[in-house]
Amino acid sequence: MTTITDVRAYEVLDSRGTPTVEAAVILDGQHLGRFCVPSGASTGRYEALELRDNDPLRYGGLGVQKAVENIRGPMRSALIGRNATDQRTIDKLLIDLDGTENKSHLGANAILAVSVAYAKAIATSRALPLPIALAQALQSGNAQTPQVPPFQTPVPTFNVLNGGVHADSGLSVQEFMIAPVGASSVTEAIRWGVETYRTLRKLLMAGGHRVSVGDEGGFAPQLDSNERALEILVQAITAAGYVPGEQIGIVLDVAATELYRDSSYHLAAAGSNQEKSSASDLIALYQSWVRTYPILGIEDGLAEDDWEGWRALSIALGDQIQLIGDDLFVTNIAKLSQGITTQVGNAIIIKPNQIGTLSETADSIFLAQSHNYVPIMANRSAENADSFIADLALALSVPQIKTGAPCRGERIEKYNQLIRIDQDFAGATTYAGARFFPGRVPK
Ligand code: PGA
Ligand code: ZN
Repeated sequence: MTTITDVRAYEVLDSRGTPTVEAAVILDGQHLGRFCVPSGASTGRYEALELRDNDPLRYGGLGVQKAVENIRGPMRSALIGRNATDQRTIDKLLIDLDGTENKSHLGANAILAVSVAYAKAIATSRALPLPIALAQALQSGNAQTPQVPPFQTPVPTFNVLNGGVHADSGLSVQEFMIAPVGASSVTEAIRWGVETYRTLRKLLMAGGHRVSVGDEGGFAPQLDSNERALEILVQAITAAGYVPGEQIGIVLDVAATELYRDSSYHLAAAGSNQEKSSASDLIALYQSWVRTYPILGIEDGLAEDDWEGWRALSIALGDQIQLIGDDLFVTNIAKLSQGITTQVGNAIIIKPNQIGTLSETADSIFLAQSHNYVPIMANRSAENADSFIADLALALSVPQIKTGAPCRGERIEKYNQLIRIDQDFAGATTYAGARFFPGRVPK
């Protein structure tokens, strides 16, 4: 029987240079699992709580010593000496120890760090590749996905132009992503994405634009409109040698919660007249974009509390493109259930730190899969070099992953892990491709 012999915690840094929580769980004094939590900038109001110190004398209040102490104190005491049992038991123990709805007592950052570190320690102790260990640990009770390979590799969507709160580009749409749906493998999809990203760089430079990058490694040029960004993206896809829409499509994250103030949306580019739009104005705009550009999906097209607008958006575009809920669903089964019942959206962003444990993350994926909502694994705008989400996507047959541009080490590492997985499980993987995109499903 394996025993939890130590639990450690550290206040380390993320890719924005902000403190974050890292935990290590050690089994039998020798098998170590470690996880460092990411952090968002455009966080949804209903996410589990990221506990920060609010001590203005350290890191501008952003320190995480309280969360670290919660691991070293109560969480360590509850875990140490326990037989290493299944993931759900450990996660339930942590949830009960916290005792709040949104994990505000111990902090979701503290809880997730331990939850994932534990899963990784189990994989090490059993000498299993992480995707296989995760599949075994999380799939019990879920009939949707097989326990062992063949694995489905996800479509990578590369966030190549950054706007919103992730860059000072002036673009109000937060993320312009490219999705190589027509590739034959994830390795090929990554090559197509990289080639297009580099072509985009050349085009921007030729147009006299700066090619410095935003938080997720996408370029942050000063373009005068979202439409201009879409045009340049289509040019880049074509100039890289691919057919827009067929081989490489576009996915947008509008992150509209950030644009919603005083009962209206402010989508206009910074510097122009801050015009006000209603939900129906935006829906009409998205319809025109979908007619004009090869758009395969729109994430957070409307704000997190605008369920009425979301319902109208779903009626207008739900059979043509992915309508992806991020702030709307926050990886939470109660929120997703509301979406399923009211027929709102058809895809859900999966971010483990929005909900705070690995088991609850898996439950959101399973609920989505059993109702034909597409789960999409996602990074946060502040990350670290851990590639766990790539392994988790594979383990649970998540058909899509967004993890920034092919630039900046903390983004690259996730794509590199997908390349390794594709090679290590060669012959036992199939690429998800275009089949999870509503407008692209063969009739
Ligand atoms: P965030 O952005 O990590 O800053 O919240 C990512 C997203 O909105 O998808
Ligand atoms: Zn988002």
